[in-house]
Amino acid sequence: MSYVSLTINGVMVTVPKGTTVLNAAREAGVFIPTFCHDPNIPRFGACRICVVEIPGMRNLPASCVTEATEGMEVYTESPAVVEARKTILELLLANHPQDCLTCEKNGDCRLQDYAFRYSVKEAGFKGESKDYPLDDTNPYIIRDANKCILCGRCVRTCNAIPDRSVIDFGYRGFNTKIVTAMDTPLGESDCVYCGRCVTVCPVGALAWKPLAGKGRTWEMARQDVTCTFCDSGCVFEVLSKDGKNVGVIPKASGNGRPLCLKGRLGLELKYLDDPPPPYLKKDGEFAQVSWAEALGLEDILAKLDNKG
Ligand code: SF4
Ligand code: SF4
Ligand code: SF4
Ligand code: FES
Repeated sequence: MSYVSLTINGVMVTVPKGTTVLNAAREAGVFIPTFCHDPNIPRFGACRICVVEIPGMRNLPASCVTEATEGMEVYTESPAVVEARKTILELLLANHPQDCLTCEKNGDCRLQDYAFRYSVKEAGFKGESKDYPLDDTNPYIIRDANKCILCGRCVRTCNAIPDRSVIDFGYRGFNTKIVTAMDTPLGESDCVYCGRCVTVCPVGALAWKPLAGKGRTWEMARQDVTCTFCDSGCVFEVLSKDGKNVGVIPKASGNGRPLCLKGRLGLELKYLDDPPPPYLKKDGEFAQVSWAEALGLEDILAKLDNKG
């Protein structure tokens, strides 16, 4: 394998040829913010929050799609870089409902973290704002398009699941948003509620419905559990608060990112203190049903009752 040496903020770093500047910085323990970058899905290079300064390059390049080269000099927090990041954050906040106080992602939100890091308190730009209705028409995922920063991680993650591609970018310009086919609510789409999109969303645009109101991220203890329903060995996290297990979510970085609902629901039944009731889709709508009905055991149980 061949290597290249570059300096990042004056410190020499040697990485394998082909490494991005972002990964070289991470190797060296240097922080660079990212929204759209995800090591598990194809590069996108759209949000630009990861820009760095590299003397000799005309503009500030996005570090997540720029390859490190021999002798390169990289500056990750120069005045120009900080200014660019502040402008990006101001633009995002210009069209973002800043209801962090009640947002499910408070404490686990990159937009919030970066606004704090770069002291961006106000939108800085005034204009039309979005007012999309909340999509909580299904039992598992709440979608708030008003909080979406269009990083595309959910789309690329869903596209990576064989036979899915449930969501994509829709409309244009100011009206661009993440949509299902025909822009229907998620409950009317082919979504299988694997939740991978929720796990990768860096802001509060996607949230777990079963966990809504159950506690703040910093109040939750997390325990890794491995699903045993098939031989893929997907890793999930059991979240608990005050000694009570309140949720099971796919682990963001783990064995292949859990993708099946069977695993998560099975683990919910196994680990949760108050597992959620089952739902069945009846006439296109989810309806809460008994376990006997969900498992198709109603007739058998009725016969047993009659015999007893
Ligand atoms: S998505 Fe982030 S910045 Fe937006 S309201 Fe929620 S916590 Fe605040
Ligand atoms: S829950 Fe899974 S199938 Fe549904 S949109 Fe998200 S990634 Fe796609
Ligand atoms: S819903 Fe979340 S992951 Fe998807 S594009 Fe919007 S901010 Fe990104
Ligand atoms: S993280 Fe690099 S462009 Fe979005």
